[in-house]
Amino acid sequence: MLAIKELETGYGKKQVVFGLSLDVREGEIVTLIGPNGAGKSTVLKAVCGLIPVWKGQIRLNGTPTNGSTPAQNVARGITFAPQGNRVFADLTVMENLEIGGYPLPRREAKERIAHMLELFPVLKERARQDAGRLSGGEQQMLALARALVPKPKLLMLDEPSLGLAPNLVATVFKRIADISRDAGVAILIVEQKVRQVLDICHRVYSMKLGKIAFEGQPEELKEDKAKLKDLFL
Ligand SMILES: Nc1ncnc2c1ncn2[C@@H]1O[C@H](COP(=O)(O)OP(=O)(O)OP(=O)(O)O)[C@@H](O)[C@H]1O
Ligand SMILES: [Mg+2]
Repeated sequence: MLAIKELETGYGKKQVVFGLSLDVREGEIVTLIGPNGAGKSTVLKAVCGLIPVWKGQIRLNGTPTNGSTPAQNVARGITFAPQGNRVFADLTVMENLEIGGYPLPRREAKERIAHMLELFPVLKERARQDAGRLSGGEQQMLALARALVPKPKLLMLDEPSLGLAPNLVATVFKRIADISRDAGVAILIVEQKVRQVLDICHRVYSMKLGKIAFEGQPEELKEDKAKLKDLFL
């Protein structure tokens, strides 16, 4: 599905990612962890076309996406819910979903939004309310729903647990796992709440200083606390 080979990228003259390779297969939930500043968000930005690829290859189902704009990538099936950018607080729940549907033909957008409201009943009940009045967990559901409106093949989530009350984190992660299974969408998650995300993902990569420092099964890290700690030093 997604194949990143030897990616190099950064900002201006500052290189942040140094030859990173990573795969997400059909139907998989893959987690990318690592210390602050390792370059996790930068990788997601390069995949969705927000920053240029300096070197290396990014392919979606075999087709190179290097040099594509974010809009072209959405059309190809890649959507992205960025870190901390949850919802438009002054717009209604419905309007937030309409923004997700913007790249689609109008009728299709309407159908997809209706489908999301069925999938997330809490959003249906509050469709006419300002998104800023939703709880943190509900806002995160809305951000998820908005990213799902264009019917992505690959959904990228940057710290979906950010700012959530601890008791909501498990709920949101469970929802992510359900969506992946039911909609058959592959998911790449960047996350700091490592213990909880390990319960829902199929594979884990860890980044350190712009490179992959570990790749393996979540079980390996769950059973080896020392190794997990080492990945964050
Ligand atoms: N827009 C930007 N312009 C310049 N440098 C940036 C920009 N965004 C990030 N960086 C730098 O790139 C490096 C990697 O940042 P990135 O946001 O990818 O890290 P991260 O692994 O997502 O960290 P965190 O866990 O804190 O979100 C950091 O040194 C950061 O300061
Ligand atoms: Mg980040």
